[in-house]
Amino acid sequence: MEAHHCNNRRSNLLLLLLLVSVVANLITASAASSPIAIASEEKLELTLYYEALCPFCENFIVNYLYKLFDNGLISIVDLKLSPYGNAKIRSNDTIVCQHGAWECVLNTVEACAIHAWPAVSDHFPFVYCVENLTYKGEYANWETCFQKVNVDPKPVLDCYTSGFGHELELQYADEIKALEPPHTYVPWVVLDGQPLYDDYVDIISLICKAYKGSKTPEACLGLSLPVTKHKDTDNTLDNKLLGCMLLAWLSLCRINGIK
Ligand SMILES: *[C@@H]1O[C@H](CO)[C@@H](O)[C@H](O)[C@H]1NC(C)=O
Ligand SMILES: *[C@@H]1O[C@H](CO)[C@@H](O)[C@H](O)[C@H]1NC(C)=O
Repeated sequence: MEAHHCNNRRSNLLLLLLLVSVVANLITASAASSPIAIASEEKLELTLYYEALCPFCENFIVNYLYKLFDNGLISIVDLKLSPYGNAKIRSNDTIVCQHGAWECVLNTVEACAIHAWPAVSDHFPFVYCVENLTYKGEYANWETCFQKVNVDPKPVLDCYTSGFGHELELQYADEIKALEPPHTYVPWVVLDGQPLYDDYVDIISLICKAYKGSKTPEACLGLSLPVTKHKDTDNTLDNKLLGCMLLAWLSLCRINGIK
């Protein structure tokens, strides 16, 4: 089962990232004319190992991961979903899921969707829709997602009922079992071969930090400096910046033992 996460370690890393990005932005701003180093254009590999009914997985997909599609980070990320998680294989290749039979159904349905629409931009909306329902306990309504995201149900239903979805799940089982280091809980997020452990909620800044290519998306540049993309953001961003500075100051205090 999912353990509670270590909040201290995570928030310290977040503070450090915020501090680094504030400083980096100040430096960049003062040296705006210096040439940008052109590095490899390769995308980052990001894989999410999850299971359909794990609350932390639902939360990650519905409240964090979707942002990659909203802020353009998906353009520098090769995102793969692996819907199997902590399920176990019993005799006869029967799969037993951590959160019961419904989870096996929805893992398989999502595996079928990924297979039916291989481009992540095509299957993610469906997976998101299903997880958005399960997050609210409405997993039995998953079939409404075909209509909601406007896709043909047939390939997914055929895949599920024919047993092909079960075969896909067995493949995902092999995939997660082969992980090195092995996964210890879900959501298990791996960025360029490195598990993020509990830091997965900082996915945006971790992606920006890991990216070495030259096509840095605006979302990375705007991590701590105001951007004018959305209306009504100036105040929020100013407040965020103030918040960052306050947090940075607090963390310095903590480091110095003043707190
Ligand atoms: C394995 O599957 C076969 C055929 O579906 C079935 O007859 C048998 O009872 C199953 N064995 C176990 C241990 O589940
Ligand atoms: C997700 O759930 C929220 C809250 O119930 C709902 O307002 C929203 O329309 C859902 N989004 C999708 C894409 O299904």
